[in-house]
Amino acid sequence: MKNVLLGVTGSIAAYKAAEIASLLVKKDINVDVIMTKSAQEFIKPLTFQSLTKNRVYTDTFEEFTPSEIKHISLAKKIDLCIIAPASANIIGKIANGIADDMLSTVVMAIRDKPIYIAPAMNTGMYENPIVQDNIKKLAGYGYKFIEPKESLLACGDLGKGALQDVNIIANILLENLN
Ligand SMILES: Cc1cc2nc3c(=O)[nH]c(=O)nc-3n(C[C@H](O)[C@H](O)[C@H](O)COP(=O)(O)O)c2cc1C
Repeated sequence: MKNVLLGVTGSIAAYKAAEIASLLVKKDINVDVIMTKSAQEFIKPLTFQSLTKNRVYTDTFEEFTPSEIKHISLAKKIDLCIIAPASANIIGKIANGIADDMLSTVVMAIRDKPIYIAPAMNTGMYENPIVQDNIKKLAGYGYKFIEPKESLLACGDLGKGALQDVNIIANILLENLN
């Protein structure tokens, strides 16, 4: 059985990550979910727990399996990591070597596994040169970006920044796993 780590961050699109989890589970993939504190403002861990049948990780220091250091064992266990939706903040943190929550800490610990990032944010945020520099920097390190699409965004702006379609995201991941 393949293992996917799904990181969910604080975006209005966080609810769409539940569909990604569901699509992968239906393909017999084990999905472990890490949610940031902000992500939990939008959707509850229970949604992902129910869909994946796994406990959801939200806190680096909540070590509920005493025989493991979870941020390391998770990083070793997985075949692939996907962060969807990825906030401007998580992209900036990863690009700058910050590991101050469970998601950024696990991502820091992953070696030799594909890490996909599907950004979702307001067009102004997405086009901010700092965000674009961070994306270029991470792409240079081998991180794979799933480009956002142009859409009428929740804030009312029309432009690029909406999370790519969940079916497209799931298919990219499934292709890689096969
Ligand atoms: C209603 C609302 C919607 C938001 N949507 C996004 C978003 O789509 N993308 C983004 O980068 N930040 C968004 N933010 C801001 C992030 O939640 C904020 O920067 C947060 O610190 C991100 O934390 P995280 O990366 O740890 O999840 C939103 C905030 C609010 C209040």
